[in-house]
Amino acid sequence: MTDAKFSEVTDDSIRHLVDEFYTRVRADAELGPVFDNAIGDWDPHLATMRDFWSSVMLTSGRYKGNPVMKHRRVEGISYELFERWLALFGDTAGALFEPALADVFKSKAARIAESLRLAVFYRPDQPWPPTAA
Ligand code: HEM
Repeated sequence: MTDAKFSEVTDDSIRHLVDEFYTRVRADAELGPVFDNAIGDWDPHLATMRDFWSSVMLTSGRYKGNPVMKHRRVEGISYELFERWLALFGDTAGALFEPALADVFKSKAARIAESLRLAVFYRPDQPWPPTAA
């Protein structure tokens, strides 16, 4: 990869981000096994994630789905694992995009992660955020 960073959010730069992020996810000791166990065929997942980020960043409306239901069913997902996901996503966005744009990706990801965490792990009778066991 060269030092030049994307200065625009386009279908092309989103594709680079998604490809690079999931390459790093698969190589990650914590996230890799969880994703590889859940995803048999990566091509459709990568296509869904391109649509997702296009909807988030370009309001293209391309993504239609129910991420909450999907994440509830992911074996091995945990509240803490989201920290790892966000760190890796932030590193990837920072490596590919100019800082101001990387920050937009990071803050969108952080907000979506928080709402997914609440939807998947919140229990009315338990403290929030969950305390480590
Ligand atoms: C620890 C954190 C996370 C883990 C382990 C995880 C894992 C997964 C897995 C395994 C799938 C595929 C599910 C399937 O096809 O059955 C998936 C789908 C997806 N994930 Fe995550 N994820 C995490 C965090 C996030 C975050 C923070 C976002 C958004 C910023 C996100 C957005 C999505 C979306 C949009 C899909 C596609 C759902 C669909 O098929 O409609 N994920 N995730």
